[in-house]
Amino acid sequence: MTPSLRDADPGLLDEMTSVSEAVNKTIGLLLPKTDLAESRLFDAMRHGTLGGGKRLRPFLVMHSAALFNVAPARARRVSAALEFVHCYSLIHDDLPAMDDAALRRGKPTVHRQFDEATAILAGDALLTLAFEVLSDPETHEDPHVRCELIKALATSAGSQGMVGGQMLDLIAEEKEFDLGAISRMQRMKTGKLMAFACEAGAILGKAGEPHKKALCNYAHDLGLAFQVTDDILDVDADPQDTGKDTRKDEQSGKATFVSAMGKEQAKERAEMLVEQAIKHLRIFDGREKHLVNLALYVLERRA
Ligand code: IPE
Ligand code: IPE
Ligand code: MG
Ligand code: MG
Ligand code: MG
Repeated sequence: MTPSLRDADPGLLDEMTSVSEAVNKTIGLLLPKTDLAESRLFDAMRHGTLGGGKRLRPFLVMHSAALFNVAPARARRVSAALEFVHCYSLIHDDLPAMDDAALRRGKPTVHRQFDEATAILAGDALLTLAFEVLSDPETHEDPHVRCELIKALATSAGSQGMVGGQMLDLIAEEKEFDLGAISRMQRMKTGKLMAFACEAGAILGKAGEPHKKALCNYAHDLGLAFQVTDDILDVDADPQDTGKDTRKDEQSGKATFVSAMGKEQAKERAEMLVEQAIKHLRIFDGREKHLVNLALYVLERRA
């Protein structure tokens, strides 16, 4: 049966709001704030991280961690670190050399609000701040856990993960990509950071291999479904709802699931992936409700 948001817990949106509020507070505390000569950089970092965003990756960290009874304060720090990397990726993604976007989260993009050089530096500073946060004993007292988190985030964000995927995304404007190549690109540019979100919960909770594997499989299918729905929203949605420019992929002639198989088939692909993602969670014996709900949300989101 095709999964639908109607099957989700009506409390999902409240839970998303509560995760966002808690993680926003942590992000606000971790960002630098002084009025030194370089404060333009700090302002740009705040502009790129606060005041918007669905905080889906933090939701995944918090609820994966909760499956292993991890203290929420620890999971919030890891959520903030991941969100710093995600926001840096968006700031750089919006630059003129990449997608050349003017609007993000309903506000001017960082390079439009400040300037290009400041946007590049704000991205750089957010990326390094993420690792500073993970390496702090406040994140976890066990140095092995901290090292594992650092390695997993570095791998997911780097040349074999998000950044590698962004390279493929630029190449996809010029070269023919078949469905296999598009899937690989989307899994790297979006799936890898989503997978880190779930893996982080398991690392913090020192989970066993079967539970880790189940979360990793869930996140891979969910991440791909999420990028398929992002590609659909690019042709389908209203910038009022998404808070970002639409029709960007079509304008740049980028290969996406929508360009390769059409909107209807892309929707079916997303449904199939979400159904598959949910099945991987059965191992959690009924404690996976929030992660199931989030998968259903990804399918029907309009923003
Ligand atoms: C946008 O991610 C970039 C993609 C990976 C598709 P989100 O849709 O999660 O963006 P925010 O964080 O809610 O703004
Ligand atoms: C961006 O993908 C994925 C990143 C790694 C930042 P998109 O370029 O499709 O994201 P949006 O549509 O600008 O949010
Ligand atoms: Mg892009
Ligand atoms: Mg973009
Ligand atoms: Mg997009």
